[in-house]
Amino acid sequence: MSTRYDPKAKPGAGRGRARPVEPPVPLLAKIMQTLQVLTLMVAAAGALSYMINGNFTWNYKLPSWRRIQNTWMSSDRIFTPEELKQYDGTDPSKPIYLAIMGDVFDVTEGRSYYGPGGGYHFFAGRDAARAYITGCFQTHLTHDIRGLTPDQIKGIDDWRQFYTSGSEKYFKVGRVVHEPIDPNTPIPPPCDDGASAEQGQAAAGTSSSSSSSSS
Ligand code: HEM
Repeated sequence: MSTRYDPKAKPGAGRGRARPVEPPVPLLAKIMQTLQVLTLMVAAAGALSYMINGNFTWNYKLPSWRRIQNTWMSSDRIFTPEELKQYDGTDPSKPIYLAIMGDVFDVTEGRSYYGPGGGYHFFAGRDAARAYITGCFQTHLTHDIRGLTPDQIKGIDDWRQFYTSGSEKYFKVGRVVHEPIDPNTPIPPPCDDGASAEQGQAAAGTSSSSSSSSS
């Protein structure tokens, strides 16, 4: 650092020698210094967290970019059933969406369940509300909930709550608009494997009579 002669310095100050004067630090340099210190502190905190927790964020899970975008933009996108079908996970460049009682959710974080090869892939890209409570994963992949009891409908709604706020992984992106169901068409008949529904809800941590959550 250079020194300059200070003409205003009192005689005798500095034992007769010219007193060194610090040149003024420009504002930009001060900002840069502060940023440097902050960056170092953040890096040190991240490194410490990595040593303790095995991650840089003190176990805080950063929201996905899709979720941030969705928060900024509206979650009122309207889908036709055909549009929704494009988000069934078969195209890896697209998010995975599923619907339940008309609400469309982004479940990309659950790709291992809902993507191709996942145990619940059949729920992706459609509104299969009925199957959520009957467990008929082949014949009840429909939004048609006619003929179900109020308890069963509550059970479906519990799943909807699970996707809305019961799981940090998923979030709502919009609504799917279905054609009205012709009341003259037959109600989907029960299936044999529906008996496993209650068992399955217990296994997945859900219940038709209590608030839903799942693994
Ligand atoms: C009505 C019947 C059922 C429904 C609607 C259902 C639905 C689901 C859903 C949607 C998930 C994924 C949850 C998530 O996204 O986090 C899930 C996970 C799971 N379900 Fe089911 N399920 C049913 C039946 C069963 C049955 C019968 C079993 C076992 C006997 C079972 C065992 C599991 C297990 C173990 C997981 C966690 C999977 C894992 O961690 O890889 N479920 N279930």
